Amino acid sequence: MVDDVILRTEMLNAGYGRFHILFDISIAVRRGEIFVIVGPNGSGKSTFLKTLFGLTRIYSGKIEFEGKDITHLPPHARARLGIAYLPQTNNVFAELTVKENLYMAGYGIDRSIVEKRVQEVLEYFPILREKLSVKAKALSGGQRQLLAMAMALIRDPRLFMFDEPTAGLAPKAAKELVDRIIWLRQELGKTIVWVEQNARLALEQGDTAALLVSGRVAYSGPARELLADKELGKKYLGLKG
Ligand SMILES: Nc1ncnc2c1ncn2[C@@H]1O[C@H](COP(=O)(O)OP(=O)(O)O)[C@@H](O)[C@H]1O
Ligand SMILES: [Mg+2]
Repeated sequence: MVDDVILRTEMLNAGYGRFHILFDISIAVRRGEIFVIVGPNGSGKSTFLKTLFGLTRIYSGKIEFEGKDITHLPPHARARLGIAYLPQTNNVFAELTVKENLYMAGYGIDRSIVEKRVQEVLEYFPILREKLSVKAKALSGGQRQLLAMAMALIRDPRLFMFDEPTAGLAPKAAKELVDRIIWLRQELGKTIVWVEQNARLALEQGDTAALLVSGRVAYSGPARELLADKELGKKYLGLKG
């Protein structure tokens, strides 16, 4: 099962208008794994996730999801195929309640399916049930990330892409969120692409990792090996010994 590639990029070049940011990115994410993307600030991690979701300009190269060429599909079509993208911020509707957010997430999906999924996610995340009538902006940072995850689950995607989900969270909340990411993979069998600033945290949990430096892949392979690589770790990730 884990040898089945769910997402592949081949020699991907992308950016914003004339600003070429990503160069020749080739990666393969296997179904059911946690694929971690690390790298210095400004190395193109967020741009890469946006590219996978169809939010940048692609100059050349290819993206395949479950064997299908999605290189030029718009974001909504990628979402419909089973890809969820959770940006770093503004991933919930601040002025809407938890309940409204969950139903918003089900936009365009059959009502009875949405009802069923909302009940499911409330069972997974009891804290959200307690906060159903609370506006998202009044939630803690950790709860907001949970809500974003729950909203993604309403669409039952196979691939989750997180952009720095633990940014700005206190250590305890960050750990809870990481446990949830692991749970997504472990219990629900989801595939995870996880961009993370805290390299050690993510590399300890990841199966495979890619290191981006100046928009290029400087390493891709087992996450543990990158963690153990003194030179790359020290040079690019601020990891000590
Ligand atoms: N909307 C944009 N237009 C032009 N350049 C951008 C835009 N967003 C980001 N960039 C540039 O792309 C590069 C990579 O940024 P980003 O993908 O956010 O890196 P990271 O997530 O690794 O910190 C940076 O040089 C950044 O200034
Ligand atoms: Mg970023």
